[in-house]
Amino acid sequence: MFNSIRTKLTVTYIVLILAVLLVTSFFLLNTLEQYYIGYQYLILEAAAHPVAREAGPNLREAPNVVTLSNVAEEYGRQYRIRVVITDHRQRVQGDSLRVGGLVGTTLERAEIAAALAGEQGRSIQYSHQSRQWVMQVAVPIIFEDSIIGAVFIASSLSDIYAVLDNVRDFLLLATVLSLLFAGLLGVYFAHHITVPIESLTAATEQIARGDLTQRVSVRSKDEIGRLAGQFNHMAGRLQEMTRQLREFVSNASHEMRTPLTSLNILVKSLREYPLEAEEREEFLADIDQEVERLIHLVESLLDLTRLDRLGAEDTMSMTDIVPTVRNTLEMLKKRAEEKSIALEYLLPESTEPVFAVLHQVKQVVFNLVDNAIKYTPEGGHVQVELFQEPERLLLSVTDSGIGIPPEHREKIFERFYRVDKARSREQGGTGLGLAIVKEIVTRHGGEILVEDNENGLGTTFIVTWPRALGVNTASEY
Ligand SMILES: Nc1ncnc2c1ncn2[C@@H]1O[C@H](COP(=O)(O)OP(=O)(O)OP(=O)(O)O)[C@@H](O)[C@H]1O
Ligand SMILES: [Mg+2]
Repeated sequence: MFNSIRTKLTVTYIVLILAVLLVTSFFLLNTLEQYYIGYQYLILEAAAHPVAREAGPNLREAPNVVTLSNVAEEYGRQYRIRVVITDHRQRVQGDSLRVGGLVGTTLERAEIAAALAGEQGRSIQYSHQSRQWVMQVAVPIIFEDSIIGAVFIASSLSDIYAVLDNVRDFLLLATVLSLLFAGLLGVYFAHHITVPIESLTAATEQIARGDLTQRVSVRSKDEIGRLAGQFNHMAGRLQEMTRQLREFVSNASHEMRTPLTSLNILVKSLREYPLEAEEREEFLADIDQEVERLIHLVESLLDLTRLDRLGAEDTMSMTDIVPTVRNTLEMLKKRAEEKSIALEYLLPESTEPVFAVLHQVKQVVFNLVDNAIKYTPEGGHVQVELFQEPERLLLSVTDSGIGIPPEHREKIFERFYRVDKARSREQGGTGLGLAIVKEIVTRHGGEILVEDNENGLGTTFIVTWPRALGVNTASEY
């Protein structure tokens, strides 16, 4: 039960309000009591002084109990208090209470003794007789500079305690009402917080079960609203990534099926039909070609998988890429010559170092020049140039080949995309070469462009490497 936000929030509210109100009430009641009692002492003492003044002369000469009792009664009635006048031996010489009064007795009270000694005589006691709290005050009667008696005053504190009781009752009511309100407020807020969280939880469960179409409706603009927004964004990305992955797997399987089917037929034919040695060689050459195609496909797939891995293990270093570019081009020279294509290149001696993974640079150059050779008819030419620009390195690969129609230019970087499927497949192409190039270039923080040649024949690919940047390792996938 205490695991729900609703309970936690409500209980917190209640405890907080209770603590604040209890502390406040305690201090308020205490302060009020102190104030009233202090004030009451002052009133009683103020009432005692005129009695003392009036009683002084009478008490000095020959104490007359009737006169003194009259004085006591007069002030007693006025202030609704008990007034007792004693001489310096604490014998009562006047009492505002006529019937059952203390006249003639000795009143041994600490307050009177204190007053006779010239000190403050004050006390509060509970009277079991009248069942109430009573305040007592005694002041000395001073006549011609000597203490000749005391005025003793007793007054009930029931009025004060009645007021304090009222305040306490009021505070109690306020506490109960506040707690009720806090409880309701807690439940209300908790409801507002928990409802979207519960719908988020439900959507998460659905996604965990594989239903990636789940979204939560975003209502608020607060933290939970932002969480819901991010959740929807995440679900959308997840859905898109899953779609791409499925498409990728489906395309890859499809690409594999073609050479595997050919291999199947070729091997069966070899086994089932008696063939001439020459035909046999032809079949074996075909098998070889299909196997090469499969190896090329699997290698390309592995390259992409490696690149897709977030934070790929290849670390970049600051290097001069010219030797790598030159080696790769020399490697491709033979392939160009076989097709009577003139492969020319113009490279600087060296360039400023860039952040790069060298074997990936090699892959970029290889794939672009390989395409240029592949899609250029015999007798054509391919030209590669590398320039140092102030902020970047620029590599261009120009061919005099078949060109790429404008409507295909955006798509050729997609995985498995080929302009002319049959033709590309015939050449052993998988449609992954440019996707790998694009992925590598993006990881290096660079860009790749494809353009028409000025004479309208053939294609130019341009790759840029930013100088000493290129640490953008975040993948698009
Ligand atoms: N220089 C070019 N001239 C004309 N068309 C090109 C050129 N480079 C690429 N293409 C077109 O773009 C498509 C995609 O190229 P990509 O390199 O990705 O695949 P591929 O060359 O068919 O296969 P792979 O590179 O895996 O062997 C090619 O099939 C081709 O149609
Ligand atoms: Mg290619």
